[in-house]
Amino acid sequence: MDNMERVQALSNSFSPSAPIDQKALFSGRMAQLMDVLNAVSQKGQHAILFGERGVGKTSLARVLSGGLTIRATQVLTASINCDGTMDFSSLWHKICREIVFTQTKTGAGFTAPPETTLKPLADYLPATVTPDDVRHLLSQLGKTLIIIDELDRLVNPEITALLADTIKTLSDHAVDTTLLLVGVADSVEMLIKEHQSIERAMVQIRMPRMSPPELNEIIDKGLSAAGMSIQAGAKEMICTLSQGLPHYTHLLALNASQRAATIDRTEVAVEDVRTAIDTALAKAQQSIIGAYHKATSSPRENLYPQVLLSCALAPTDNLGYFAAVDVRKPLSEIMKKPYEIPAFSQHLNAFCEESRGPILQRTGTNRRFRFRFSNPLLQPYVIMDGIRRGLISDSLKANKS
Ligand SMILES: Nc1ncnc2c1ncn2[C@@H]1O[C@H](COP(=O)(O)OP(=O)(O)OP(=O)(O)O)[C@@H](O)[C@H]1O
Ligand SMILES: [Mg+2]
Repeated sequence: MDNMERVQALSNSFSPSAPIDQKALFSGRMAQLMDVLNAVSQKGQHAILFGERGVGKTSLARVLSGGLTIRATQVLTASINCDGTMDFSSLWHKICREIVFTQTKTGAGFTAPPETTLKPLADYLPATVTPDDVRHLLSQLGKTLIIIDELDRLVNPEITALLADTIKTLSDHAVDTTLLLVGVADSVEMLIKEHQSIERAMVQIRMPRMSPPELNEIIDKGLSAAGMSIQAGAKEMICTLSQGLPHYTHLLALNASQRAATIDRTEVAVEDVRTAIDTALAKAQQSIIGAYHKATSSPRENLYPQVLLSCALAPTDNLGYFAAVDVRKPLSEIMKKPYEIPAFSQHLNAFCEESRGPILQRTGTNRRFRFRFSNPLLQPYVIMDGIRRGLISDSLKANKS
């Protein structure tokens, strides 16, 4: 392989901005895959896959819809994204356009061969669809998996209520279709809380951030496709910086490995990752750069970048929340003198206001507030920016000097 071919192979295997749709490039997630597959093989069982933005929900759904066989039969699949303009009828028309139905009619005379016609299932739906129409239609099909992604875009409460009724009726009639709903955590809580009747029919599958071994697998798979390798320190650095979010693993691995390839090296080194940080910061989505500036700019005193960096370094619970007390240690290390909560609590509050994004969300009650990044993808960005500014080292420790 020459350098050009390597650069090309790398851009095929690392896709920072698009969900994975090939099994060969999909890493980890065995537990979540198994949970979905178990739901699909049970009649009357449905599933909801939820997690933070960018953890890999769509990728898992795509890999499943690429082809699934259960008990030697091919599972019919349809996969759609929701949008804010949809009502219940247009949702099901969109889904049923994805499913092609084979109709076989006996021929006209004794000798005429049977006629088969392929029709999209949508042709059999009335203009105004009810949950019972859906059940009736789906009960004519064999094993089917229907993936409804971006559930959080469905803003109309009427449509989620009808969707809950649909799940209930499909489950009660043991129709051999599994609905897989995919969305960010908050939308799921809403759906389940408001429609407790469906709780039994739904398996709730939480998609956590990716573990270091899963992130390592992404790096190894991508590099081996280009006949390249990586130093242990460089790999660890990419994992640490990614904070469990595979977007950054793809982005940093892509930039670092292409840099190595263009200067005739087949092993990615720590210095390649350092250069990749600068590229990642410069080429980050405009919305991320904009949100960072909005949150931290101030004409006068400016502790905002340091406090935000300390928030990004604060230990979190498994929903991504931290408390003010968790910010104290990283901030004191960065500032090289002890900082107590009153010195930065107004900064934390300001981060939750419209005028600074809000870059953070706050929950809980006074004195017991907990905070998290409104967009999780900002957290690694803030950390990389801290490294570029020299506030912390690449091992995420405060710089000594
Ligand atoms: N299992 C995986 N193996 C390798 N790469 C992955 C995996 N899961 C996700 N990725 C990568 O991570 C990034 C985000 O993935 P994806 O779009 O699937 O996340 P998402 O949870 O659906 O995000 P959103 O909440 O924005 O819809 C993409 O670049 C994708 O290629
Ligand atoms: Mg998605």
